[in-house]
Amino acid sequence: MSGISVLAAQHTIGDPVDDASMRHVMGAFPSGVTVLTTCAGEHPVGMTISSFASVSIDPPLLLQCVSRSAGCLPAYRIGRPVVVNVLACDQAGLARRFAGRHEDRFAGVAFGFEAGGAPVLDRTAAWAGGTVDRIYDAGDHVILLIRVREVRRSDRKPLLYHSGRMYDWTTATAAIDT
Ligand SMILES: Cc1cc2nc3c(=O)[nH]c(=O)nc-3n(C[C@H](O)[C@H](O)[C@H](O)COP(=O)(O)O)c2cc1C
Repeated sequence: MSGISVLAAQHTIGDPVDDASMRHVMGAFPSGVTVLTTCAGEHPVGMTISSFASVSIDPPLLLQCVSRSAGCLPAYRIGRPVVVNVLACDQAGLARRFAGRHEDRFAGVAFGFEAGGAPVLDRTAAWAGGTVDRIYDAGDHVILLIRVREVRRSDRKPLLYHSGRMYDWTTATAAIDT
Protein backbone atom coordinates (compact mmCIF):
# COMPACT_ATOMS: atom_id res chain seq x y z
CA MET A 1 0.00 0.00 0.00
CA SER A 2 2.98 2.34 -0.56
CA GLY A 3 0.92 4.48 -3.00
CA ILE A 4 -1.50 5.38 -0.23
CA SER A 5 1.22 6.37 2.24
CA VAL A 6 2.75 8.72 -0.38
CA LEU A 7 -0.60 10.51 -0.65
CA ALA A 8 -1.05 10.54 3.14
CA ALA A 9 2.30 12.30 3.46
CA GLN A 10 1.03 15.08 1.21
CA HIS A 11 -2.44 15.53 2.58
CA THR A 12 -3.94 14.76 5.98
CA ILE A 13 -7.68 14.11 6.06
CA GLY A 14 -9.44 17.22 7.33
CA ASP A 15 -6.73 19.65 6.16
CA PRO A 16 -7.59 22.13 3.41
CA VAL A 17 -6.50 20.76 0.00
CA ASP A 18 -3.49 22.66 -1.33
CA ASP A 19 -2.95 23.36 -5.05
CA ALA A 20 -0.13 20.83 -5.47
CA SER A 21 -2.14 17.96 -3.90
CA MET A 22 -5.18 18.83 -6.00
CA ARG A 23 -3.13 18.80 -9.23
CA HIS A 24 -1.23 15.65 -8.26
CA VAL A 25 -4.27 13.61 -7.26
CA MET A 26 -6.51 14.77 -10.15
CA GLY A 27 -3.65 13.85 -12.50
CA ALA A 28 -4.39 10.21 -11.65
CA PHE A 29 -7.51 10.48 -13.79
CA PRO A 30 -6.62 10.08 -17.49
CA SER A 31 -8.34 12.06 -20.24
CA GLY A 32 -8.10 12.90 -23.89
CA VAL A 33 -6.89 16.24 -25.21
CA THR A 34 -9.06 18.74 -27.10
CA VAL A 35 -8.56 22.10 -28.77
CA LEU A 36 -11.56 24.40 -28.35
CA THR A 37 -11.82 26.71 -31.35
CA THR A 38 -13.97 29.67 -32.30
CA CYS A 39 -13.63 32.88 -34.28
CA ALA A 40 -13.27 36.38 -32.88
CA GLY A 41 -14.30 38.50 -35.85
CA GLU A 42 -12.08 37.31 -38.71
CA HIS A 43 -9.53 35.70 -36.39
CA PRO A 44 -9.52 32.01 -35.52
CA VAL A 45 -9.00 31.42 -31.78
CA GLY A 46 -8.15 28.17 -30.00
CA MET A 47 -6.69 26.70 -26.84
CA THR A 48 -5.84 23.23 -25.57
CA ILE A 49 -8.28 21.82 -23.00
CA SER A 50 -8.26 18.43 -21.26
CA SER A 51 -11.09 19.14 -18.81
CA PHE A 52 -13.81 18.07 -21.18
CA ALA A 53 -16.87 15.85 -20.70
CA SER A 54 -19.92 14.68 -22.57
CA VAL A 55 -22.86 15.83 -20.40
CA SER A 56 -26.13 14.96 -22.14
CA ILE A 57 -27.20 12.99 -25.21
CA ASP A 58 -30.70 14.54 -25.55
CA PRO A 59 -30.27 17.43 -25.87
CA PRO A 60 -26.63 16.95 -26.94
CA LEU A 61 -24.48 18.90 -24.45
CA LEU A 62 -20.74 18.99 -23.73
CA LEU A 63 -18.71 20.86 -21.18
CA GLN A 64 -15.28 22.45 -21.25
CA CYS A 65 -13.56 24.04 -18.23
CA VAL A 66 -11.61 27.19 -19.11
CA SER A 67 -9.28 29.05 -16.78
CA ARG A 68 -10.34 32.58 -15.92
CA SER A 69 -6.78 33.61 -16.81
CA ALA A 70 -7.03 32.24 -20.39
CA GLY A 71 -6.60 34.93 -23.01
CA CYS A 72 -9.12 33.09 -25.22
CA LEU A 73 -11.90 33.22 -22.63
CA PRO A 74 -13.56 36.45 -23.87
CA ALA A 75 -13.95 34.81 -27.31
CA TYR A 76 -16.09 31.97 -25.90
CA ARG A 77 -19.30 33.97 -25.50
CA ILE A 78 -22.87 32.70 -25.23
CA GLY A 79 -24.22 32.03 -28.72
CA ARG A 80 -20.77 31.83 -30.36
CA PRO A 81 -20.04 28.88 -32.65
CA VAL A 82 -17.32 26.63 -31.21
CA VAL A 83 -15.69 23.33 -32.14
CA VAL A 84 -14.30 20.78 -29.68
CA ASN A 85 -11.47 19.16 -31.66
CA VAL A 86 -10.48 15.78 -30.14
CA LEU A 87 -6.79 15.38 -30.94
CA ALA A 88 -5.39 12.20 -32.48
CA CYS A 89 -2.45 10.32 -30.98
CA ASP A 90 0.03 11.91 -33.43
CA GLN A 91 -1.10 15.47 -32.60
CA ALA A 92 0.78 16.17 -29.33
CA GLY A 93 2.54 18.97 -31.22
CA LEU A 94 -0.83 20.66 -31.80
CA ALA A 95 -1.70 20.28 -28.09
CA ARG A 96 1.53 22.09 -27.19
CA ARG A 97 1.06 24.69 -29.93
CA PHE A 98 -2.45 25.61 -28.73
CA ALA A 99 -1.17 25.92 -25.16
CA GLY A 100 1.91 27.93 -26.05
CA ARG A 101 2.87 31.49 -26.89
CA HIS A 102 2.55 32.08 -30.64
CA GLU A 103 1.59 35.24 -32.42
CA ASP A 104 -0.78 33.13 -34.52
CA ARG A 105 -1.44 29.60 -33.21
CA PHE A 106 -3.10 28.67 -36.52
CA ALA A 107 -0.10 29.63 -38.70
CA GLY A 108 1.01 26.51 -40.59
CA VAL A 109 -1.85 24.45 -39.09
CA ALA A 110 -4.21 22.67 -41.51
CA PHE A 111 -7.85 23.51 -40.78
CA GLY A 112 -11.22 24.34 -42.35
CA PHE A 113 -14.52 25.69 -41.03
CA GLU A 114 -17.74 24.00 -39.95
CA ALA A 115 -21.17 25.29 -40.93
CA GLY A 116 -21.36 27.70 -37.97
CA GLY A 117 -18.02 29.30 -38.93
CA ALA A 118 -15.74 27.87 -36.22
CA PRO A 119 -12.37 26.32 -37.19
CA VAL A 120 -12.10 22.52 -37.55
CA LEU A 121 -8.57 21.12 -37.29
CA ASP A 122 -7.55 18.51 -39.88
CA ARG A 123 -6.77 14.87 -39.06
CA THR A 124 -8.27 14.79 -35.54
CA ALA A 125 -9.85 11.71 -33.91
CA ALA A 126 -13.23 13.48 -33.78
CA TRP A 127 -14.89 16.86 -33.51
CA ALA A 128 -18.14 18.36 -32.26
CA GLY A 129 -19.43 21.72 -33.44
CA GLY A 130 -22.07 23.78 -31.68
CA THR A 131 -22.65 26.97 -29.74
CA VAL A 132 -21.89 28.13 -26.21
CA ASP A 133 -25.22 27.66 -24.42
CA ARG A 134 -24.38 28.68 -20.85
CA ILE A 135 -21.35 29.77 -18.80
CA TYR A 136 -21.09 28.83 -15.12
CA ASP A 137 -18.72 30.26 -12.51
CA ALA A 138 -16.46 27.55 -11.09
CA GLY A 139 -13.70 28.94 -8.89
CA ASP A 140 -10.61 29.86 -10.90
CA HIS A 141 -12.26 28.32 -14.02
CA VAL A 142 -15.57 28.72 -15.81
CA ILE A 143 -17.63 25.85 -17.20
CA LEU A 144 -18.78 26.31 -20.79
CA LEU A 145 -21.88 24.28 -21.59
CA ILE A 146 -21.92 23.66 -25.34
CA ARG A 147 -25.03 22.74 -27.31
CA VAL A 148 -23.87 20.39 -30.09
CA ARG A 149 -25.09 20.82 -33.67
CA GLU A 150 -22.76 18.55 -35.67
CA VAL A 151 -20.42 15.66 -34.83
CA ARG A 152 -17.78 13.75 -36.81
CA ARG A 153 -15.48 10.86 -35.91
CA SER A 154 -12.51 9.43 -37.82
CA ASP A 155 -10.71 6.11 -37.33
CA ARG A 156 -7.68 7.88 -35.79
CA LYS A 157 -6.84 6.89 -32.22
CA PRO A 158 -7.02 9.67 -29.57
CA LEU A 159 -4.15 11.38 -27.78
CA LEU A 160 -4.16 10.62 -24.02
CA TYR A 161 -3.23 12.87 -21.08
CA HIS A 162 -2.25 11.59 -17.64
CA SER A 163 -0.27 13.17 -14.78
CA GLY A 164 0.82 16.09 -16.96
CA ARG A 165 2.11 13.91 -19.82
CA MET A 166 0.70 12.98 -23.22
CA TYR A 167 0.58 9.39 -24.48
CA ASP A 168 0.01 7.64 -27.74
CA TRP A 169 -3.01 5.40 -27.22
CA THR A 170 -1.68 2.77 -29.60
CA THR A 171 1.51 2.14 -27.61
CA ALA A 172 0.47 3.14 -24.05
CA THR A 173 -2.53 0.90 -23.55
CA ALA A 174 -4.10 -2.41 -24.35
CA ALA A 175 -7.87 -2.86 -24.27
CA ILE A 176 -8.82 -5.28 -21.45
CA ASP A 177 -12.61 -5.39 -21.77
CA THR A 178 -12.89 -7.46 -24.96
C1 LIG B 1 -2.55 18.87 -22.31
C2 LIG B 1 -3.05 20.22 -21.84
C3 LIG B 1 -4.29 20.32 -21.23
C4 LIG B 1 -4.80 21.56 -20.81
N1 LIG B 1 -6.04 21.63 -20.24
C5 LIG B 1 -6.56 22.82 -19.89
C6 LIG B 1 -7.89 22.93 -19.39
O1 LIG B 1 -8.60 21.94 -19.24
N2 LIG B 1 -8.38 24.17 -19.09
C7 LIG B 1 -7.62 25.31 -19.23
O2 LIG B 1 -8.10 26.41 -18.94
N3 LIG B 1 -6.34 25.23 -19.68
C8 LIG B 1 -5.81 24.04 -20.04
N4 LIG B 1 -4.54 23.95 -20.53
C9 LIG B 1 -3.71 25.16 -20.57
C10 LIG B 1 -4.06 26.09 -21.72
O3 LIG B 1 -4.10 25.42 -22.96
C11 LIG B 1 -3.00 27.20 -21.77
O4 LIG B 1 -3.01 27.89 -20.55
C12 LIG B 1 -3.19 28.15 -22.91
O5 LIG B 1 -2.01 28.91 -23.03
C13 LIG B 1 -4.32 29.11 -22.75
O6 LIG B 1 -4.26 29.95 -23.86
P1 LIG B 1 -4.73 31.47 -23.84
O7 LIG B 1 -4.19 32.11 -22.59
O8 LIG B 1 -4.21 32.03 -25.11
O9 LIG B 1 -6.22 31.43 -23.83
C14 LIG B 1 -4.02 22.72 -20.97
C15 LIG B 1 -2.76 22.62 -21.60
C16 LIG B 1 -2.29 21.39 -22.03
C17 LIG B 1 -0.95 21.31 -22.71
